[in-house]
Order: sequence, then structure tokens, then C-alpha cells
Amino acid sequence: MDFELEIANLHIKKNEINWILKPYPHAIIDNFLPKSLFEQVSSTKPDVLDDLRRTNTTGLEFNKKEYGIKGKSQKFRIPIEIMGFGIGKNLFSKFMNPSKIITLASHDDFGGYYPYHSSSRNGLLGSHVDHCFLGDNIHFANSIFYAHKEWKKEWQGETILFNHNGFKPLVYIEPKPNRMVLFIHSNTSFHGVNKILCPEKITRNTYYMDYYLHSNDIKHLVENIQKAGKGKPKIKYSYHQTTFIPFFPFGFNSRPTFNTRRIVTYFRAYIIYLFFRILPIDFKYSKKFNRLYNNLKNSIKRQINKFFS
Ligand SMILES: [Fe+2]
Repeated sequence: MDFELEIANLHIKKNEINWILKPYPHAIIDNFLPKSLFEQVSSTKPDVLDDLRRTNTTGLEFNKKEYGIKGKSQKFRIPIEIMGFGIGKNLFSKFMNPSKIITLASHDDFGGYYPYHSSSRNGLLGSHVDHCFLGDNIHFANSIFYAHKEWKKEWQGETILFNHNGFKPLVYIEPKPNRMVLFIHSNTSFHGVNKILCPEKITRNTYYMDYYLHSNDIKHLVENIQKAGKGKPKIKYSYHQTTFIPFFPFGFNSRPTFNTRRIVTYFRAYIIYLFFRILPIDFKYSKKFNRLYNNLKNSIKRQINKFFS
């Protein structure tokens, strides 16, 4: 595999990365892996994967299965090797020194997240921002690699980039096989997946990786993005968990969903997100504040359970 990885790295290094700065910095790289290697990677069928960790069945996250990669063949793991351990960090070198970048893959068991996703017909992922930190590091970028063998435009399932409040879809990125999508993550980088209309036997398969920076390096990142954007408003980081726009997966101009599963959880996350986004306090204090809030909440829960037991 080392040889194939080496060939892949040489191929990837030749790719030019054109960053598009609106609505937030993102880049699309087609033919990311050498053709022969992609054929091998894309021939894994999700129904043979046995490390299923999570299935999403709510109105805002539907028909999406998330897998770990334990026990998988080396071929299957190649995109993760590249995105998480290898030259994946270099893809963001326009904005950050790769040696400063930490990836999800460098955490034990991917920090509790899952790097391979498979969605089927009628699947969707509503407008959301991801978790903003892992350990002491801030989540600053994502990569998504489309690994299905075929995809037709009419099957939709585009990755959508929304405006700063997550209410308006602005960019639709077609999930073409062997395409890599990169984007810079902040507290306004709302994204999602359009409703999937592929046939029952097809699935939309993606590898996914997050990238993190120590909070001391964030200032440098923000400056570099601002330089590239020539005066565009600064990107900001505030405390939030993965937060969905309640009821409106595809923005205010599309049909709302009132599938009520987990709606209280979604709504609470959104209120907390707004609270910290509006509050002009430093990220590290928001994190402390939230820890305090969680401790208080757990202690109240414990007292209530004790009272009724
Ligand atoms: Fe996400």
C-alpha cells in the first residue's frame, strides 16, 4: 500500500487548489485520486461494512449511516490515510502552516466521530454548523470526499453552502465521484446535503475529515483569510455543538419539516448557539461557561432522580 499511497500523493500534489471565498472559503478538487486507485476505493459496498456507529432518522438528518473504519481493508482506508494522516493538511496551506494542523484522525477512535458516511434515497442533512472544538483545539476546516462509483445530476444530493445565518442556500456542489471538497469552518459556515433522489440500490458515500488548530493559532488563520478576502468581514469562532437550523433543513424559502424526533435537542442546541454567537466573550470563556452549565444541569438531574427514587 505504501507504493500506492506514494503514487496518490504525487498525483494530489499536482492538483491546483482554487479557493472560492464566498459565502465562506471553499475549494473543489476533481479527480482527486488516480483513476485506478479510485476504482478500488469506490468498489467497497456499504452493506459489507460492519462498523456501523449511528443511523440518522430525524427530519433534519435522514437516511444517513455513519461508520467507523475498524477492521477495514487497507484499500478502503486510503482516503482516511490521505485526508487524516498524510498530505491532507497541506490542502489548507494557503491559510495555515500544515505543521500547526491537527486532524480528527489523530484522536483516539476519531474523537467519537465517524469518518465514513453512506446516505440512501430520500436522505438529507439540514443546514448546520459542526461542533466547534475537540479537546482544547478549535475546529477550523472540513474535507469531504465523494467515494460512490457513479452519480447523476438529477439524483441531487449536492453539498449545500448556506449564508451566514443558515437560512439561505447559496452554493450547490454536485457530489461527483472522486471529487474532494474543502471548506473553512467557523460559527457561520452553515452547510448540509440536499435531498437525495438516487435509485434504491445506489448510495451516496463520503469520507469525511475535520481539521483543528490550537486557539493561539486561530488569530493567524483569521488574518490570512482576511488578506485573501480583501476586507471581507472576519470569520469568527464561538462556542457551539453541532447545531441545526430547527424546522428548515434547506432554508426559509423551502418546505419546513415538522418531524418531531429530537426536536427539543435541536432547539436547545440552536438557542445555546445563538447565545454564544451574540455574546461578545472570548471562545475559551464560553467553553468554561458551558462546562459550568452542564455541571449544574447534571447536578439538578441527579437531585431530581434522588428525590424520586
Ligand atoms: Fe457538517
